[in-house]
Amino acid sequence: VSEAPSNPNSHSTQPERRRPHGGRPIRVGLLGAGVVGGGVLALLAQHARQIEQRVGVRVEVGRALVRDLGKPRVPEAAGVPFTTDAEELFGDASLDLFVEVMGGTDEAGTLLARALSSGRSVVTANKALLAARGAGLFALAAANRADLAFEAAVGGGIPIIRTLRDAASSDEVVGITGILNGTSNFILTAMTDSRAPFAEALADAQARGFAEADPSLDVGGFDAAQKLLVLAMLAFGQEPVPLSHDPSSAVLVEGITAIDAADVEAADRLGFVVKHLVVGRDHGERVELRAHPALVRKLSAWAAVAGSLNAVKIEGRALGPLFMSGRGAGDLPTAVSVVADVVEVARSIVAGVPGLSTGLATGARAVAVRPLVPRADLELRYYVRFEVHDQPGVLARIAGALAEHRVSIAEIVQSEGKEGRARIVLTTHRAREGAMLASLAELAPISVAAPVLLRIEDTL
Ligand code: NAP
Ligand code: HSE
Repeated sequence: VSEAPSNPNSHSTQPERRRPHGGRPIRVGLLGAGVVGGGVLALLAQHARQIEQRVGVRVEVGRALVRDLGKPRVPEAAGVPFTTDAEELFGDASLDLFVEVMGGTDEAGTLLARALSSGRSVVTANKALLAARGAGLFALAAANRADLAFEAAVGGGIPIIRTLRDAASSDEVVGITGILNGTSNFILTAMTDSRAPFAEALADAQARGFAEADPSLDVGGFDAAQKLLVLAMLAFGQEPVPLSHDPSSAVLVEGITAIDAADVEAADRLGFVVKHLVVGRDHGERVELRAHPALVRKLSAWAAVAGSLNAVKIEGRALGPLFMSGRGAGDLPTAVSVVADVVEVARSIVAGVPGLSTGLATGARAVAVRPLVPRADLELRYYVRFEVHDQPGVLARIAGALAEHRVSIAEIVQSEGKEGRARIVLTTHRAREGAMLASLAELAPISVAAPVLLRIEDTL
C-alpha cells in the first residue's frame, strides 16, 4: 500500500503509527559552540524550514555546552540556553541527540560514551576522538541501537564518509589518496603563490577558523593522519593504531614544519608543487598508511587543490578512481556536513529506527588490526635538499653514497649558498625508502643541516 508523502505543516493530523516520535520537534544537545558549533547554530536556524521538510518535524537546539558563558556567539545562538555544566544536558530528558563539536579526546570521549550508553544518537566532527577510540564508540553505538554519524570529521564539507559508507558499499575500496588538512594546504598555497612566510600563513589560517585549538596537530601532520585512520577503518576495515612522529612508527606521520621557502622554490623549478598528502592502500596481508608532504606535478589535479580546499580520491576494484574536492575546513562548510548528519539521524529517530543509518558505519568490512607496511619498504621517488660545505668531492660523495645503496639520481642541481656553503637539490628514480635513509645516514658528516627528504608522487 503506498502512502501519500507526509505534509510537514500538518504533523498534528498524522496517524501515530507513522510517527513513532509523536510529531514532537527533535531537540539537539550541542556540545561546543565555537567555529563549527557556530556554523551549526547558523545553518539550523537559516534552513529550519527545509530541514523540517526533510525530517518531518522541527529540529531545534535545546541546550548548548561551552566553557565560557561570556564569549560572543553567532546571532542564531540568541534564545538557546547555554551552560558550562554538562549535567544540565544529560539531565534534560527532552534532548533526542547530541552534536559534539567541542574537540579533544578525554572529555568529549566521556560525554559521547555517556550519550551513546543512554541510547541517544551522536553526531561528531571529532576525528581525533574517532582515531583514538572509534572502534569502541562504534561498538557502543551498535550495542545501544544509536547512530554515530561523523561526516564532518574528514574533509569538512566533502561527503566522503557517505560515499564510502553508502555509494561504495557495493565495491571493495583498495586505495585512498587525499589532501585532508585545510590548514596545511592553506599554508603551503600561501608559501607557493605569494611566498608568504610559514608563521604568517599559519596565523592567517587560525584567524579564519581552519586550525585546530592546538595547531601543531595540523602542521605536525597528525590531523591528516587521524582522518586517514578514520577512512582506512571504513574502507579497509583497518582498526586505528596510535600515531607518533617516531620514525619506527608503522603509520608514517610527517607535517609541513620542515618545509622551507627553498623547497617550495626548488619544487617549482623542477615542475612540482609541495602538498601535504595522505595515502592509504590495502595490500591484502598488509596495509600502507602514510601522511606527509610530497611533490606533485604542477599539472595534476592535486596541484589545483588550493587554500583551505581538500580533495580525496578513492579507488574501488569495480568503480576505479573517484575524485572529490571541496572546502575542507571552516565554520559553514564543516557545518553543512554536521547538519546533514543531524538531518539523517533525526529522520531515523522520527522513523523509529535509530541506529540504522550509521550504526553499521564500519560494517562493510570487519574491523581488525592488520600489519602495516614499514617505512623502509616503501618504494617511491624522492626529493632531497642538502646544505653542505662547498668543498671538492662533496657532489661525488653524495652520488657515491646513493649509488652504493642502488638509488639512481634523476636530476641534480647545485647552487652556491652563503658562508662557504652549497645547496644540492636532487630527485631520484624509484627507490626503496630504506635505501634512501641509509644513504642519508652515511652523508650526515658532510651535511651542515639535516637533509630535507620529500617523497614525489607523480603517478597519482
Ligand atoms: P573551537 O572553535 O575551539 O570550539 C570548541 C567549542 O567547544 C567552544 O565553544 C568551547 O567553548 C567548547 N568547549 C571546548 N572544550 C570544552 C569543555 N571542556 N567543556 C565545555 N565546552 C568546551 O573548535 P572548532 O574549530 O569549532 O572545532 C570543534 C571540533 O570540530 C574539533 O573536533 C575539530 O577537530 C572539528 N573540526 C573543525 C573544523 C574547523 O574547520 N574548525 C573542521 C572539521 C572538524 P568556548 O566557546 O566557551 O571556549
Ligand atoms: N584543522 C582542520 C584542518 C579542520 O585544517 O583541516 C578540518 O578538519
